[in-house]
Amino acid sequence: MATSSAPPASARLRAALALQQVWAGRSLDDALQLQGLSARDQRQAQWLAYNATRWAQRLEALLDLLLDKPLKARDQDLKALLLVALYELQASRAPAPASVNEAVALAAQLDKDWARGLVNAVLRRYLRERAALDARLDGMGPAVASSHPQWLVEALQTAYPEDWPAVLAANNAHPPLVLRVNRRRLAREAYLAHLAAAGFAAQGQARTAAGVVLDAPVAVESLPGWREGWVSVQDGAAQLAAPLVNPQPGERVLDACAAPGGKTAHLLELADLDLWAVDISARRLGQIRENLQRLGLPAARLIAADAAQPDAWWDGVPFDRILLDAPCSATGVIRRHPDIKLLRRAGDIPALAARQRALLAALWPLLRPGGRFVYATCSVLPTENAEQIAAFCASHADARCLALPGTGQVLPGADGMDGFFYAVLEKEAA
Ligand SMILES: C[S@@+](CC[C@H](N)C(=O)[O-])C[C@H]1O[C@@H](n2cnc3c(N)ncnc32)[C@H](O)[C@@H]1O
Repeated sequence: MATSSAPPASARLRAALALQQVWAGRSLDDALQLQGLSARDQRQAQWLAYNATRWAQRLEALLDLLLDKPLKARDQDLKALLLVALYELQASRAPAPASVNEAVALAAQLDKDWARGLVNAVLRRYLRERAALDARLDGMGPAVASSHPQWLVEALQTAYPEDWPAVLAANNAHPPLVLRVNRRRLAREAYLAHLAAAGFAAQGQARTAAGVVLDAPVAVESLPGWREGWVSVQDGAAQLAAPLVNPQPGERVLDACAAPGGKTAHLLELADLDLWAVDISARRLGQIRENLQRLGLPAARLIAADAAQPDAWWDGVPFDRILLDAPCSATGVIRRHPDIKLLRRAGDIPALAARQRALLAALWPLLRPGGRFVYATCSVLPTENAEQIAAFCASHADARCLALPGTGQVLPGADGMDGFFYAVLEKEAA
């Protein structure tokens, strides 16, 4: 509630207040408060918050069509409530009049009694005119129709003249739950048999050796062997990283931006290693320790440090292999994090590219001659990906870029996966 510190009891209002905070720059995961709600209300709050965020730009355009004059800046909470209610009317199987009445009552909970009539009028008009309004929105161009920021649509159109409509559609799809089977514990086929026996429908992920795609999302704690460390949650595209690093037993390997440790764990599932896991966030580093423990994997050296300042943490002995899973725009994982569409600005990209450039330049000297360097991002923007690597190779005569299928760019939705970019570089032997 706007005037009290206790979160509201209504799942709808929790979703609306979360959306309002995303507009103010907070991530949706941080903003969405679920404590004190029943399991059912938690699911509803999550469903509404994620989908109202996913469709926020389109819902805002819809609201503009429904309002005689725009809402005031101080009524962002009311605007968020209206977008959540409009989404619910579009998608829910709940009877429409009940949803309208609930939204009207929630306006009062925002201490905006004056808005009850407005909420009622807007939502009922939507129900009356929905087909015509939806058609108008479809005709407003791809940014509104697909609910993306204009700058991102233009960047995708430039980068992928043929594939951009499919990328926009994939960004709005609901992502599957994908697992990685810990091959130190059991083979993928054996795990699929356990899943089938427990009544979970699932398939092997086509592009990966250890990936399993669940037909329907479930609470991970209910999966066979979860607590015993048989599986981790990791998208198929992220599961391509460790096999590209291709670590061999006993090698000294650096995972340079490692937290929360999805790829660190995968590397250790493939081989016993002298693995250095560096991350600038000490808090997130703790998640790596927990993940490795649950999976029963050997420990890694966990180092809380800026990977771009190796003088502070490196002992001078070169690494055989380096994985740099660089901080990036996350434009490849919008289907899992729809708040990226609201949080990211065009102006963020040059600063991100500069950080990636600094990390690449600082870490390359740590690789031994003949060693392998894998650069990864969960971005679809060439500035952070192919152009970044082309510039790096042009300025480092000892770097050789290995050819990867599709130039290393995995587009969102391809083989059911998130968007990712990979470059594999080898350092010339001395
Ligand atoms: C894409 S995430 C890494 C995901 C991780 N590799 C995994 O598979 O679970 C990027 C990480 O880079 C870290 N980071 C950002 N800048 C860094 C820097 N200069 N040095 C080290 N880590 C950094 C962030 O804290 C974040 O955990």
